[in-house]
Amino acid sequence: MADKIYIFDTTLRDGEQSPGATMNQREKIRLARQLERLGVDIIEAGFPAASQGDFEAVQAISTAVDNCQVAGLCRALTKDIDRAWDAIKGAKNPRIHTFLATSPLHMKYKLGKEPDQVLAMTEKAVHHAAQYTPNVEFSAEDASRSDWDFLAKVTEVAITAGATTINIPDTVGYAQPDEYGDLIKYLIDTVPNSDRAVFSVHCHNDLGLAVANTLAALKNGARQAEVTVSGIGERAGNASVEELVMSLRTRANYYELETSIETEQIFPTCRLLSMIIGQPIPPYKAIIGANAFAHESGIHQDGMLKDRRTYEIMTPESIGRTHSELVLGKHSGSHALQKKIEELGYRLDDEHLQLVFAAVKALADKKTQIFDEDIEAVILEEVFRIPDHFKLVNLSVQSGNTGVPPTAAIVMEVDGEEKKHATFGVGPVDAVFNAISDVVGRKPKLKSYLVNAVTHGTDAQGEVTVRMEDGDGCRSAVGRGADPDIIVASAKAYLNAMNRLAKMEEDRKCDTL
Ligand code: KIV
Ligand code: ZN
Repeated sequence: MADKIYIFDTTLRDGEQSPGATMNQREKIRLARQLERLGVDIIEAGFPAASQGDFEAVQAISTAVDNCQVAGLCRALTKDIDRAWDAIKGAKNPRIHTFLATSPLHMKYKLGKEPDQVLAMTEKAVHHAAQYTPNVEFSAEDASRSDWDFLAKVTEVAITAGATTINIPDTVGYAQPDEYGDLIKYLIDTVPNSDRAVFSVHCHNDLGLAVANTLAALKNGARQAEVTVSGIGERAGNASVEELVMSLRTRANYYELETSIETEQIFPTCRLLSMIIGQPIPPYKAIIGANAFAHESGIHQDGMLKDRRTYEIMTPESIGRTHSELVLGKHSGSHALQKKIEELGYRLDDEHLQLVFAAVKALADKKTQIFDEDIEAVILEEVFRIPDHFKLVNLSVQSGNTGVPPTAAIVMEVDGEEKKHATFGVGPVDAVFNAISDVVGRKPKLKSYLVNAVTHGTDAQGEVTVRMEDGDGCRSAVGRGADPDIIVASAKAYLNAMNRLAKMEEDRKCDTL
């Protein structure tokens, strides 16, 4: 029988630490529900001690999912552990995940502690967490650059104190597959009580080896893999769930390991994340990129026509890549829309359903065919948006090659109060952004601006994504907006990012922990 690998998803914690990937609470809950559909075993919902917003989001996620364990991350400090427990205790199966660095570099320069003090802190923290729940995970931060004997000692102490999962992170993406596999084997073989814990791995992708290192560790006895959707995460990201799971599945003969992942939910999950954080999936990305199943060369196309297996090691259907389905037209009713929304995995209350229904109807007046992607764009826009301080009411733009500078006239609501303003720019988008900045009274740096068609066809909705930086680079936010008029979509995206920056400032949260 194949051994089971526990999939621990940290998209909502490590993933959210990725620049520009901040999500609001509703978006986090939506993503958590999708992770549940995907079949992950554990969702790391956040770092409750980081801010009040994080605490509340973890608390809300804990009660929003039924079939996954919910983990809250905390430093090895009593007050952090208490805060984490308060946030997750409403979950059906809560897990406290506490961590402490064990490498010489981290102990000396980051913690300013001697190894003996780190051992004592480990014992105290795990013991404290275990008084709340038997489901305690301990992570030895920067484990891959730690002394192996010391790491073995820390592991033994943590297990004795009550940890049931021991995580060995490659925090800075430094490990090499064989070496990392050997480390896992060494710990399992030498720690006297290793049979009382599940060994877990958490790999960063600084050298592009996160998935390879994770696979090497699983081959050597680790039974939990910490991953994120599309590999988002701190710096170069984490091991990506889709690459890991499809390796295990496609090469089941080699690994003899299985997971509970519903692979057909992989693509919908990655697409949802991409829409929420406003970052498109790169076309060359393994498994989920637009080119992953495209066959360009004549020889390949010929082989594919004869037998798909010549050049295809897995099918697009196996990861849930289906063609955009035409779902609605101008005359479709609310029942058809409601059914489609449920099929897409959203649970909306009546008020939100009415909002989405009205927005889809308005869209159907402009565009003849409505696709799944259009509906998701509308839902993200109408339901999941950060509560608006700044709202777009009306926009009119004049541009062209007439010699008159492009002009934007805008009507906005700022905390419920109507404001009007008009100004110029070098182009229509610049004029709109200048007008919004003048009304809001701040001008964050625009770091990137992307426009994409949500579906095919010249009448497609334009989806604009902006990334902006504020507070001397401390805060960075992504905004997205969709509309058949790309200038309006640009204004929505810009305002969405402004609202996110304002929310971050309110929470007094810098982008990093
Ligand atoms: O990379 C890391 O070491 C972490 C730990 C907190 C698990 O994210
Ligand atoms: Zn990490």
